[in-house]
This record gives sequence, C-alpha cells and structure tokens, in this order.
Amino acid sequence: MTKGQDRLKALMARGCEFLDSEVAILAGAMSWVSERNLVSAMSNAGGFGVIACGAMSPELLDAEIAGTKALTEKPFGVNLITMHPQLNELIEVCAKHGVGHVVLAGGLPPGGAIEKIKASGAKVICFAPALALAKKLVRSGIDALVIEGMEAGGHIGPVSTSVLAQEMLPLLAEQLPVFVAGGIGRGEAIAGYLEMGAAGVQLGTRFVCATESIAHPNFKKAFIRASARDAIASVQIDPRLPVIPVRALKNSSSELFTAKQREVAQLLDDGKVEMMEAQLQIEHYWAGALRRAVIDGDVEHGSLMAGQSVGMVTKEEPLAEIIGTLMDEAAAALERR
Ligand SMILES: Cc1cc2nc3c(=O)[nH]c(=O)nc-3n(C[C@H](O)[C@H](O)[C@H](O)COP(=O)(O)O)c2cc1C
Repeated sequence: MTKGQDRLKALMARGCEFLDSEVAILAGAMSWVSERNLVSAMSNAGGFGVIACGAMSPELLDAEIAGTKALTEKPFGVNLITMHPQLNELIEVCAKHGVGHVVLAGGLPPGGAIEKIKASGAKVICFAPALALAKKLVRSGIDALVIEGMEAGGHIGPVSTSVLAQEMLPLLAEQLPVFVAGGIGRGEAIAGYLEMGAAGVQLGTRFVCATESIAHPNFKKAFIRASARDAIASVQIDPRLPVIPVRALKNSSSELFTAKQREVAQLLDDGKVEMMEAQLQIEHYWAGALRRAVIDGDVEHGSLMAGQSVGMVTKEEPLAEIIGTLMDEAAAALERR
C-alpha cells in the first residue's frame, strides 16, 4: 500500500465503520435510477448503494428491497421522502427487511419518524442543505448527516458545497459522521473533504452512466455530452408558490415546468387546492418528468436531473471502475501532500 492509500484508508475509517462498507462513498438515491441494479452494483463494488423510494408504494418498496437483496449480500440503504403520505408504512417495510440505514430526504421529518426507525435497529441519516436545519436534526437524535450543496443534481438547497463544508464540518464532524455531497466528480475533491473532517462523501451524477445503471441510453448520452454550465437550477415564477429548485440539464422541460407552476398557482388563487396539495402536485410533476427521461428516454420533454459535475462524466463504465478511479485519484492527491 502506498502512503496515499494508507492515509485514505485512515481518513475513511469512520465512514466505513458507520456504513459497514469498504469505501466511504455513498451513491446518493436517484429516483428511477437507484433501483436494484445500480444499488447492488454500488454495494458489491465496496461502496454504499441507496434505493430511491421516491413515490413508491410500500408494496413496491418491499419488492425492490427483496430484489436488491437477491443481487448483493453487502449492506445498502433506503432513501425515504419525509412528505410521503405513507412514511410510517415505508419505515415498517424497511424494518421488516432489517435495512441497516434509512436516509430521510425532504426537510425535517414528522414527529416520531426518527424514533420509529431507530427502534427497528436502523441508523438514521438526514440531508441538511443549511446549518440551522443541520443543528435541529442533530438535536433530534439522528446518527449521521449528508450536507448537500447547490451544485448537486435534483432538488437543491441555496448554499454551495464548499461553503457548507467550511461552515458545518468544524462544528459538527466531532458529534456525528458527516458525508459531503454536491458537485463531486473526482477523487481530489474527496480527499479534500475528508481532510476537512468529513466521514465520507455522497455522489449521484457521477454514477448515472455506470454500465449497471438502467437509465435509458438517451439519458446517458445527454450526460456524456453535457458540460457543467448545462446543469441549471429551475426558476420559481410565482412568489406565492414556493418551489424547491431542481438542477437539471436544460431542455424544453423548463418551459413545461413554468407552465405547470402557472397552472398550480391558478388553482391556489381559485381556492381549489391548499398550499400542501399545491406543493405535492409540483413534486408529482417532477417524478413524472424524471421518469419520462430516465425510463422512456424522452430527453427533450422529460427532466434530465443532473449536477454540475456532469461535465466530468465522459463515458459509460462499470461501477467498480468508477469507484477505482475515484479512490486512485484521492490516494494520489494525499500522496502528494
Ligand atoms: C437524476 C437524479 C435524481 C435524484 N433523485 C433524488 C431522490 O429521489 N432523492 C434524493 O434524496 N436525492 C436525489 N438526488 C440527489 C442525489 O441523491 C445526490 O445527493 C446528488 O446527486 C449528489 O450530488 P451530485 O449530483 O453533484 O453528485 C438525485 C440526483 C440526480 C442526479
């Protein structure tokens, strides 16, 4: 082992112990993409795969976990969205399968959810896109944090990864394992965040074009062609309807999203829906638009959710090779220090 590899192993030890994996890299859950094939490939490659539950019913999640277990004996996690109307049932499905790690996305979890997951013996990981929310989550007893910057693909917060890492790692890394996400495309960046105190990292965009990913060939082609500046955040058109921005490759779907926002804002104005229902409609829109692109291959009208690291995705390759490259780059960077 080189000095750089030794150092990398030492820096990842806490994250590996927490995840029960060989490398402290999570493949962040991506709706439609992070299903049994990608998740098992990630865990088999020594990383940590996470199933994206998204809008799945408890029955579908049950089948997806069973399907993933059939493809890997290594640990993997499940990502649940806090606003899912059947969150409790989904937690029960995870508990039934003895899932070791549940990742909660979408803001502060409803009362009792964290306790319920922990009672099943699973560890709770939460997303934090800002410091105030991170502190609240830590107080509520979660086991680890993913701090995700606005360079990431999919739904994003307002602050960049580099700033979040500087704000949060010195304050929180001693209290619990913190994984850094958003905009990571190479191992040098992984080495940097580990040295700043991160327990590990989470990547999404970099794994979309893995050979094992079931994303449609058109979706993968769009990623391989795109550069960083093509991954842009959606724009809120109506101040009364706050929508969480989504980062995706630009195409005609941005206009469709504008039209959707107008339609929902009108329903709000006419008193036909409440704010909660309005926001759920927006989330359903995204789930449908992403499916159109990932599964059906409609890269013009579907949503091409992607982070700014998309420019560093240059070919389709097996997941184990992506992990190997990231680890080599990280070790070489540490060797040079
Ligand atoms: C296509 C796509 C779909 C995503 N879907 C979800 C999701 O359903 N739930 C979630 O918590 N995060 C989702 N994410 C975010 C990823 O889990 C991950 O945190 C993010 O991709 C990391 O940043 P990066 O894209 O810069 O690597 C998605 C990201 C992408 C690119």
